[in-house]
Parts: sequence; C-alpha cells; structure tokens
Amino acid sequence: MRARVAVTKEADRLNGIDKGRGARPAFDVLKIRSDFPILRELVHGKPLVYLDSANTSQKPSSVLEAMDDYYRHDNANIHRATHLLSERATKAYEGTRAKVARFINAGDVKSIVLTTGTTDGINLVAQTYGRMVLQPGDEVLLSWLEHHSNIVPWQILCEQTGATLKVAPIDDRGEIDLDAYHAMLSRRTRIVSVGHVSNALGTITPVRAMIEAAHSYGAVVLIDGAQAIPHLVVDVSALDCDFYVFSSHKMFGPTGTGILYGRRGLLEAMPPYRGGGDMIASVTFEKTTYNAVPYKFEAGTPNIAGVVGLGAAVDYLSAIDRRGALVHEDGVLAYATERLGEVAGTRVIGEAREKTGVLSFVMAGVHPHDVGTILDREGIAVRTGQHCAQPVMDRYGVAATIRVSLAIYNTREDVDALIASLHRVRQVFG
Ligand SMILES: Cc1ncc(COP(=O)(O)O)c(C=O)c1O
Repeated sequence: MRARVAVTKEADRLNGIDKGRGARPAFDVLKIRSDFPILRELVHGKPLVYLDSANTSQKPSSVLEAMDDYYRHDNANIHRATHLLSERATKAYEGTRAKVARFINAGDVKSIVLTTGTTDGINLVAQTYGRMVLQPGDEVLLSWLEHHSNIVPWQILCEQTGATLKVAPIDDRGEIDLDAYHAMLSRRTRIVSVGHVSNALGTITPVRAMIEAAHSYGAVVLIDGAQAIPHLVVDVSALDCDFYVFSSHKMFGPTGTGILYGRRGLLEAMPPYRGGGDMIASVTFEKTTYNAVPYKFEAGTPNIAGVVGLGAAVDYLSAIDRRGALVHEDGVLAYATERLGEVAGTRVIGEAREKTGVLSFVMAGVHPHDVGTILDREGIAVRTGQHCAQPVMDRYGVAATIRVSLAIYNTREDVDALIASLHRVRQVFG
C-alpha cells in the first residue's frame, strides 16, 4: 500500500484543506491516550481495544469535566433570565458557537446553527431550504456512498415536492465516478448533498471540485461532514459549500449535539424548522414573527450541557497537532490494511486512493457478526453490519462488513491485537 502521507497531501489539494495551522506540541499518541479515561477500561477482563470511533468516538477528560462543571456550577436556562447563572450558561453556550465558527473557518458566527447532530442538520435543510425551492421536475443529486441520514431526508423531500432523486455511482475502489457525476448535473439540479468521508469505506471524496461543478449549474451544496470532522481540518470558506453538517459525538464531544453551518444569506431566506420558544421575535394569535438567524432554527431548550461539552471538544482538537495526528492515523490505517492481508480469506471492501479512518472487510466463510462477537470476547470493539449504508453494501454484493474505524488515540498495538484475534477467528472457522 502506498504511503498515506502522500495520499493525504493529494486529498488536501482536492479538498482545499489546510491540515494544520500554527505551531502546537508535536503529536504524542501516549499523551493523547492518557486524556481518554475509558481507554483504561477492561472489557471481558481484557484491555479495551476501541476500533469503533466512526460509530461514536470516546471522550477526553476535559470534555467530561466541562459538562460536569457546567451542571455543578452554572446550570440555568439560556437567553431568558437576568440572573447570574443564566448569564454564565448563555455565555458558555454562545461561546461554543464562536469556537465552532473559528474551528471550521466559517467567518460569521451567525452562520452556525446548533443542532442535535448530523441527521438533524440534514433534515433541517431538507425541510426548510428544500421545501422552499423544490418544484416537480427538479432534481436532488447524491452519491452512492451516502449514509442513510443523507438519503432518507431527501427521499421524503422528493415525495413531498415531486422532485426526483439522482444518485452518482461509485467505482469498484469506492470512489465517486466523477464523469458520471458531471454528466448528471444540469439546470434541473437544485441540491447536491454528498458526504466528505464515507463512513462505510473511508473514501475521502473530492468535495471541493464537486461543489464548484454543482455551483456552475446554480445548485446549492450540502456536505455531510460527520466522518471528516474528526480527521481532517475542515475549512468551509475554502470549500465554498453552502451547508456543512456534523455531529459532536464523532469528534470527541457528547451525543445529542451537532452543527449546521449555512451561508448566512441562505439561512436568512429559509423558513423556520420547528416552532417554539426562543425562535420567535413576537407571538400573537394573529401573527408570529421569527427571531434572527441562527436562533430562528433553535426552538426550545437545547442540550446546553452537551453544547458546553462540544465547546470543550473543539478546544481539545484545537490544542493538538492536527497534521501530526492525521499522519499518525494514516500510518495506523496503512499498517492495519497491510497486516490484514496476513489473515487468510479476508477481502478489503473499499480501496479508494484517498481514505481516512476506516478499514472495512469481509472474511470468507465467516459471518461478520460472528467475527464481531469473537473480537468482543477479546476486548476488541468493532462494528459489524451494513453501517447505515445499505446501498454501499448492495454495490459490493455483501450483506455486511466488519468495520475497523480509527481515531487519534489508536496505535499499532491495537492493530496487532486485532490481527492476533482475527487469526483465532480463522482457526475457529477453519
Ligand atoms: C457519514 C455520516 N453521516 C451521517 C451520520 C449520522 O450521524 P448522527 O447519527 O450523529 O446524526 C453518520 C453516523 O454514523 C455518518 O457516519
């Protein structure tokens, strides 16, 4: 397998991504591991080897402490009361918004909508922007790599509006067929929605070029960044996307929080999503007027502690050497891919030239769930199944894969433990 670093440089170029800004302490995986208390857990009496971070990542102490501190010292509702605790809670909540804006180079803090996660962000855009613009005969264009969260909301929208869903195919490596993508774009394409990194295969998609092409036809582009944000440095201004969505829990923050970045002008033109407190300017039975963006999209009491935890996760990622982390992760992925070849009867599913974080494979004669169960008994956590990406499985003619997914805290020793256990699986199943 060729060097990942060269691969990621190419990905930088394609995606318009700067992988590290400014000087930070050099990446030290042992120091990173010591920040994540759960990595010291025993599972079935064995040291935990956590290889399921694409599903959800583990959390550093700083995130856990920030949420605990919030509940112990600052807990109050936001935006509503004049008392000190409410002021502190509001400051912490709005502080996360500002941190996220800097983290993804949004340029404008008002373009950051706090959501419950990637799924929520995509549904929000589909049901507001999508409902506003789509007419019968219009098209929404996806790729074959998408997670169900980036398929089903668009299917619902197409049913509601009479628009048509189009899907750009992928090739055998698991890369989007760009010729087909370009051929499918037309003036009928109103929305393009594609993942930045595939959760099922790890493919890094050339989103910058895809956005540029879509814009030349006047389409608006949403990027599902759920799997990109923990690995790549994402710059929404350089990408020039219209919407970018991600989840906190995949980037070392808590569950139940996430981000929708949207161009300010689009957010302002969009109708509200959910109605309720905080999203209004004034309410009478005759007429309600709505709050300014982004509050127009944040009805009701949000997950304040979760948002505080997300802010701590952003601080955590901002303080580490991201380029060093990516080079480290790429090295572990290359090592895992190479060593998997030692295990008889394994086949990698998804061999894109630009990949990050994910190694999906099948083992001849063994059901993925059996592999997952045996690995679990050894303390090794992987995901088996269709990974909420059934079309990808169908494309490869497999019902399920075994998915090893990496984060900044994984090591070659984790891979060694995995390979030793896979050899044992092979012995059991012959
Ligand atoms: C690429 C991708 N998109 C969307 C999602 C949905 O994220 P969430 O469940 O946090 O809303 C996931 C989760 O696995 C994902 O990997």
